[in-house]
Amino acid sequence: MDNVETQRSAPARTAVVTGGNRGIGYAVAARLLQNGCDVVLVARDRERGETARASLAGAAGAAGAGGAGGARVRLVVGDLSGVRKARETAEALRETCPRIDVLIHNAGLWPSRRVLDEDGLEQSFVVNHLAPFLLNHELEPVLTASGARVVQVSAGLYVKGQADPERTPTGLDFHPMRTYADTKLCNLLLVPRFAERWKNAGVTINAVHPGVIRTGLGDRGGPLGYLLKAAKLLWKSPDVGARPVVRLALAEQVAGRTGRYFHLDAEQPLAPVAADAALAERLWTQALELTGLERTPPPARHDVT
Ligand SMILES: NC(=O)c1ccc[n+]([C@@H]2O[C@H](COP(=O)([O-])OP(=O)(O)OC[C@H]3O[C@@H](n4cnc5c(N)ncnc54)[C@H](OP(=O)(O)O)[C@@H]3O)[C@@H](O)[C@H]2O)c1
Repeated sequence: MDNVETQRSAPARTAVVTGGNRGIGYAVAARLLQNGCDVVLVARDRERGETARASLAGAAGAAGAGGAGGARVRLVVGDLSGVRKARETAEALRETCPRIDVLIHNAGLWPSRRVLDEDGLEQSFVVNHLAPFLLNHELEPVLTASGARVVQVSAGLYVKGQADPERTPTGLDFHPMRTYADTKLCNLLLVPRFAERWKNAGVTINAVHPGVIRTGLGDRGGPLGYLLKAAKLLWKSPDVGARPVVRLALAEQVAGRTGRYFHLDAEQPLAPVAADAALAERLWTQALELTGLERTPPPARHDVT
């Protein structure tokens, strides 16, 4: 699957990829470019982001994939590890992208120790859960205007998660193996809620487990880190992980589907732990409070241009 669908005529779609400077996000950006999208990378470090941008632009230029590569890949420097920083990232995205057709929430973190941000929130709770929540709200007018597809890169490990609204936000229940799953579960619980919110606005959102992929995720020192490094030699490449993500972003076969969870390309029902509507409502209310957002009515449909 190189091109997931036949190229549409101009204008090119604009796709935003958070954590696009390495790992699965970088491979997703490369595939989106191959499929004719203009890509906006979000990276927290300017130098790493610029290196990735230049590399992607060079590859796109060399492949001659519709226009000069440099013009087709832009960089937004933005950190997602705090509410203030994530809001600034959203502002920068609004300035850079008057139009967003695809938003890929890919940035993710598997923490080995409890680190709190400037608000006292555990960092992976913010990066994996709260930042996508905030971006979805802050970018909602732009997403609605274009009838965007939002793809949430999830993790099959969500089934091992225990989302505790009293303790998970501040990492009081921190565990170096389980907190990643806890925060991925918090995030996944809200995907159907966003689908419901956007159902009359032409915006879709789906979550996808990209596979077990050889990236820097969860890298750490010590004996566990050594074992992990050895195990990763057998895992699949980032490009393999990018395929199901890009399929949800572009393929006609999944057009109009929303609020679903995919294990690679296969749609799966959510495990009971992620289908708890009461917990989802608690997390939604909490996320509004933590991000300082108002509860607003769902957006209305725009005429998609
Ligand atoms: N690899 C797997 O087997 C696997 C399996 C299931 C799901 N996933 C999911 O796939 C997604 C991508 O992970 P990956 O495996 O490609 O991991 P990765 O190689 O560690 O890449 C993670 C990306 O997220 C970015 N990021 C981390 N913290 C950030 C922050 N505070 N602000 C902005 N960006 C931040 C990183 O930026 P820096 O380069 O600056 O650190 C990097 O670009 C994650 O959501 C992960 O949960 C991966």
